[in-house]
Amino acid sequence: MQTISVPGDKSISHRALMLAPLAHGTSRITGCAPGADVASTAEAMKSLGVEIREVGDSGLEIDGPVRLVSPAAPIDCGNSGTTARLLTGLIAGQPITATLDGDESLRRRPMGRVVEPLRAAGAAIEERGEPGRLPLAVSGGGLRAIRYELPVAGAQLKSALLFAGLGGSVPVAVFEPGHSRDHTERMLLAMGAPLKMEEVGNGRRLRLDLPERPLRPLSLHVPGDFSSAAFWIALAVLGGCGSGARLTGVGLNPGRTGFLRVLKAMGARIHTTSAGESAGEPVGDIEAGPLEVKGLKLPAEWMPELLDEIPIIACIASRAVGITVIRGASELRLKESDRIATLCSNMSALGVKCVELDDGMEIVGSGAPRSGRVRTEGDHRIAMAFAILGTLPGNDIEIDDRACVDVSYPGFWERLAEI
Ligand code: S3P
Repeated sequence: MQTISVPGDKSISHRALMLAPLAHGTSRITGCAPGADVASTAEAMKSLGVEIREVGDSGLEIDGPVRLVSPAAPIDCGNSGTTARLLTGLIAGQPITATLDGDESLRRRPMGRVVEPLRAAGAAIEERGEPGRLPLAVSGGGLRAIRYELPVAGAQLKSALLFAGLGGSVPVAVFEPGHSRDHTERMLLAMGAPLKMEEVGNGRRLRLDLPERPLRPLSLHVPGDFSSAAFWIALAVLGGCGSGARLTGVGLNPGRTGFLRVLKAMGARIHTTSAGESAGEPVGDIEAGPLEVKGLKLPAEWMPELLDEIPIIACIASRAVGITVIRGASELRLKESDRIATLCSNMSALGVKCVELDDGMEIVGSGAPRSGRVRTEGDHRIAMAFAILGTLPGNDIEIDDRACVDVSYPGFWERLAEI
């Protein structure tokens, strides 16, 4: 049994860096995600006037409240959609002006969903390039109350609206038609924000009133990133970790762990042990062992809780007995690459039978050896998923761009080699 720990959670790290400056007092954060995406958020916050002190090996301190300032130069969000969308909300709430930009992939990703409700609330947002795309010039402040029904469940949009309301001192009421990850809500509650949540049908209603008391600073050890752990869990299930693997200190937020549900339904051996909470986030260990897995028709309503894990699920499906059907996943076309197209073309290049659907794919599993070259399209999760498949006996898979994993998991290749 191999024991593996993974870097801190990316989603939680972005939020901690953006919310800590709004609190009154010194926030202490350890175990922040080390990748380039969170570094983009840290640099952005510095350019908005936030001082981030490094303490010890993996600690950070941020004093608040900070009066954010207009940065001198455009903010480069790099490859990080979370940075771009959450910051658009944060800046829209403040009486400042900033231009947000990103790399080629991020410039192709939609921003309209965030722009439209923030404009309706009074923010001035100018698209400097294509409509609904970066670069965006955001002039915030003077907002009206925000009331909005999200067209699809999405954590980034929901968080952007909550951040705008917090900074702009206006109440926020949103309805989400499904369940996306709730890291923002948990962090705000840990900071004492007056946030109310109510389950309505398959969705959730959120109401953030004006805080009567200042937000409390964060005292947070960021749990291990479940989405990074998913690659090692997959490796263990597929027999690449000997008798199995134990992932320690991983975030077990139920909005993130839909992958475990899928693995169990495919017949895998998975065991989780709770180890308590960190700032409202459940943390624990996950044990996974090798076992033959079966194909599965994934229920569409499971998607929001496992969307980031579809690349590795597809790779597991290619080794399963039978057919795996993934539907209701059209959001995948809007990620770091069009993940439906990227996955299907690479599966076909490796000789895996795979049918591309508008909103997903069908994959026929087999134990046949696979070899070929994977085109990642610069997408970190595509690179890591096929890398896991490539380590299995008989497979010989070359990844065209290994460096792209650095946005979420620097050190991935070294760890893979060790395991
Ligand atoms: C994220 C939310 C998810 C996820 C993304 C990170 C976040 O997207 O796919 O990788 O940190 O809020 P949605 O906004 O579509 O939920």
